[in-house]
Amino acid sequence: MLSPRSVNVKSFRFIVFVTLVIFCVMLGLKLMVNLPEPGIYSVSDDSKAVSSQSRQLRAQIGRLRLLLAKNGVTNPYENLESLPTIYAITPTHTRPLQKAELTRISQTFLLVPNFHWIIVEDSETKTPLVTNLLAQSGLTYTHLNAETPKEWKLLLDDPQWKKPRGVKQRNAALQWLRNNADPRKPAVVFFADDDNTYSLELFEEMRTTKKVSVWPVGLVGSVRFERPILDEHGKVANWSTGWRPERPFAIDMAGFAINLKLLLDNPQAEFSFDAPRGYQESTILAAVVTKDDLEPKASQCTKVYVWHTRTENPKLNDLKGKVPGMIVDWTVEV
Ligand code: UGA
Ligand code: MN
Repeated sequence: MLSPRSVNVKSFRFIVFVTLVIFCVMLGLKLMVNLPEPGIYSVSDDSKAVSSQSRQLRAQIGRLRLLLAKNGVTNPYENLESLPTIYAITPTHTRPLQKAELTRISQTFLLVPNFHWIIVEDSETKTPLVTNLLAQSGLTYTHLNAETPKEWKLLLDDPQWKKPRGVKQRNAALQWLRNNADPRKPAVVFFADDDNTYSLELFEEMRTTKKVSVWPVGLVGSVRFERPILDEHGKVANWSTGWRPERPFAIDMAGFAINLKLLLDNPQAEFSFDAPRGYQESTILAAVVTKDDLEPKASQCTKVYVWHTRTENPKLNDLKGKVPGMIVDWTVEV
């Protein structure tokens, strides 16, 4: 026969057991509600330290890597340390088109690994427009300014070919490289004007430049494209160009890249206001190589990966008071 005491102990145990079960079920339900969606981030993520935006970006990178791997493309972001850096030197000047051009090319440059943008403003001081654009670009960059001397400035009515452009700015960038670049680290220098159009293949072609590499340029010199002509040994023999093929290097500024070491070893190599019209490219190239040294890229110079585009200057009329509702607002940056 059971004593009243043992009945009490049994029912107490039963109550404790049932309470525990209810507690566990409730805890389980709560955890399930709060659990992260599978696939968004892994359990090991420190969800407090990583913002949801960076988590989503990380997931996107993962998906892109997977896509590249599926298509047999080596992940371009692997072994970043061993990839030579590409220094792109861009002279730029204030005009209505400037922000549009810089936005376009900077967003291309974002897709290039190991990329360092040296942007040089043709101005007395650095402008807020370029300063802010660079700060928000997500790129590694160096911001300089070097104003073209008065006597070499294009006047409003001058045809654009009358005076060379970008001379002082590119020289300032070369000086910066000579003072700041690490000569032990592999790097390639490319002159990227702010109005051209660059394909991503171009940067991978130039990255392996030993001395100077060359390739075709589209929509330049009044022809569909210009290119180096190769001989039967694959060496540059001549130039197919719309203008002055007798130039020592009859090639546009966008058609070549130089190994940084060559520019450091030849400190006299620079651009010059004294060079004849169209001889800026020949001036810098003749200072570092001979035609024999040139390395043809872009499938033996048969592919066009860069275009010498020139954006039409917009016609901006002062319509204030002429069109009903037209607001002139200089506080908006365009
Ligand atoms: C061609 C070449 O592609 C240029 O690389 C070369 O500098 C130029 O000719 C030349 O012979 O001097 P083009 O399209 O006519 O180019 O030149 P722009 O694009 O008008 O200027 C080249 C670069 O210099 C651009 O990045 C531009 O923003 C900059 N620039 C232009 C200045 O910094 N200041 C100016 O007053 C004008
Ligand atoms: Mn141009």
